[in-house]
Amino acid sequence: MTENKNFYITTPIYYVNDSPHIGHAYTTIACDVMARFKQLDGYDVKFLTGTDEHGQKVDKAAKAADIDPQRFVDLISYRFRSLVNRCIGYENMNVEDENENTIKDNILNVTNTDFIRTTEERHKKAAQALWKRIEDNGHIYLDNYGGWYSVRDEAYYQESELIDDKAPTGAEVEWVEEESYFFDLSKWQDKLLEFYKENPDFITPKSRYNEVVSFVEGGLKDLSISRTTFDWGVPVPTNDKQPTTNNHIMYVWIDALTNYLTSVGFPDTDSGEYNKFWCDKKGTGNAIHIIGKDILRFHAVYWPAFLMAAKLPLPKKIVAHGWWTIEGEKMSKSIGNVLSPSEMIAEAGGTDQLRYFMMRAMPFGNDGDFSRERLVEVVNADLANNIGNLSQRVLSMIFKNCDGKIPEFFDLQDDDKKLMHQLQSLSISKKMNEFNYSGAIERILHFAGKANEYIDTQAPWKLRKENPERMEAVLYILAESIRCIAILLQPFTPIAANKILDQLAIPEDERMLAHLSDKYALKSGISIDKPEGVFPRIEKK
Ligand code: MSP
Repeated sequence: MTENKNFYITTPIYYVNDSPHIGHAYTTIACDVMARFKQLDGYDVKFLTGTDEHGQKVDKAAKAADIDPQRFVDLISYRFRSLVNRCIGYENMNVEDENENTIKDNILNVTNTDFIRTTEERHKKAAQALWKRIEDNGHIYLDNYGGWYSVRDEAYYQESELIDDKAPTGAEVEWVEEESYFFDLSKWQDKLLEFYKENPDFITPKSRYNEVVSFVEGGLKDLSISRTTFDWGVPVPTNDKQPTTNNHIMYVWIDALTNYLTSVGFPDTDSGEYNKFWCDKKGTGNAIHIIGKDILRFHAVYWPAFLMAAKLPLPKKIVAHGWWTIEGEKMSKSIGNVLSPSEMIAEAGGTDQLRYFMMRAMPFGNDGDFSRERLVEVVNADLANNIGNLSQRVLSMIFKNCDGKIPEFFDLQDDDKKLMHQLQSLSISKKMNEFNYSGAIERILHFAGKANEYIDTQAPWKLRKENPERMEAVLYILAESIRCIAILLQPFTPIAANKILDQLAIPEDERMLAHLSDKYALKSGISIDKPEGVFPRIEKK
C-alpha cells in the first residue's frame, strides 16, 4: 500500500477583537515547524491559518472602537496577516492602517498556503452549506434558549458550571433568552464515545483525550447554534420546515469551525483539494488541527458531532497545547504584560531564535513560561554555544586551512566511526510524529554535543602542523555532521539552517530528510563560502 503523502495542518483562526500576541505566535509557529518538517519528508503540505471575524466579541470590540465592523475586521485581520504568508487576495483588502508601512511581511517566517477570513464569500457559502446538510439530515430544530453566555469565551455555560457567578474560565457571563436553532448534540454521545474508543490517537496528548472522554461520558446537552440579538455573523439559511420571522445568524463556533472545510473547496466535495487534503478516496480523514487547550471542547466534541451529523469525514487528529505565562504571570491587558510578536522577536534576537525558544522551552502539551532570563540562557547555550560555535569553528578552519575546500579523508579511526555511527542513527521523525518538538530538538542537541566532544578530543588545530592529513579527516567528519544538523534544524530555525547549508554549498534540492543518507554526504573538493556566524549571543540586559 502506498503511504498517503498529503498533509493538512491548521491553526485555530484567530479572533480579530484585538492585536496578535504570544499565544497566536506560538500556535502558528508550532504548525509551521510541523509543516516544514513534513515538507522535508516529501509530503505535499497544505497549511491553513486565518482570522475568525464574526460573533459578539468582535462586534463589541468594533462598537467600542466606534468603527464599522467590516472595516474593523479588515484592519485587525491585516495585523494577523502580516505575521504570516499573506497569500493571494490581500491586494483587494482595502485596509487603511496607520501601521501599514511599519508592519513587515511574514514576521514569523511561516509557510502557510492559505489565509482564510470568515467574512469572505467562499466561507459564507461553505458555512451555509454545512448548516444545510446538518439540517437536511434532521439534526437542527427551532426552540427558545435561556441560559448563561460568555462573550469573551463565545461559549454557553450551564448554571452548574458557574463559579462565583462567573464562567469556569473566569470570564463574565450574561443571561441570554432568545429564539434559537438547536443542534441535537445530546444524541451524539454514544457515537462520539465509540469514535474516541476506536481512535485513541484522535486527541493528543493522552491527558486531553481522557478529559474529553470524561466530559462526553458526563452527558451532552443540545447546543444553541444561532443568535438573534445582534447581526454580525453568517445568516442562517432559510428553513421552510421550521420558518421564523426572526433574523438568525449562526453561532460563531459553527461558523468558525467550518473554515477548515472552506479552504479545501467545500461544499464541492468533488474538488481536488477536498479529496487530497480533507480525506482520501476511502473517506478517511486527513486534517490535523493544532489548538490551545482552552478550545478543546469545540474541536474534539462539537466539531466531530457536526461532521458526523453532516455525514462528512472527521479530522485525523486534534493536538492541544498548553498556555504561556509571562515571567510567571498570566498574560493580561490589566497587568500590562501582553507581548506582541515583534517585541518577542526583538527580545529573542531574531525570528529563528524565537521559534527555537518556543519549541524548546515548552514541552508540547504542557504550560510554559516566557521568561527573559530563560530565553537568553536557551538561545546562548543551545544556538550560540553548542551549534553556532561548532559550525563556525569547523567551517572557519576548513576555509583557512583547507584552501576553502571540503577536505579529503582516507582511513577512519575508531572515534570517527563512533561519531559517524551516531550521525547515521540521528533521526527526529519519531519525536516529530508524536508532536514532541522539544524531544526532537533534544536529539539534535545531543548529537551536536557529541560532535563538540569529538572536536575537543581530536583537537584539529593541533593536528594542523603535526598531521595535516588527519586534520583533514577530522574536519571532513565534522563538516558532514554539521550538514545533517543543519538539515534537521530547518523546520525550527529556517534562516540560519539554510545559511549553514549555503556555506557548505549544499544544492537547494538536496536539503530534504532523504538527503541525510550518506549517499549524499559532502563531496571532497567542493569550495565553501567564507563562513559567517549565524547564531549571535544575546547580551543580558
Ligand atoms: N477564534 C477562536 C478559534 C476558532 S478555531 C475554529 C479562538 N481564537 S483566539 O484568538 O482567542 O485564540 C486562538 C488560540 O490562541 C487558541 O488556540 C488559544 O489557546 C491560543 N492562546 C491564547 N492565549 C494563549 C497563551 N497565553 N498561550 C498559548 N496559547 C494561547 O479561540
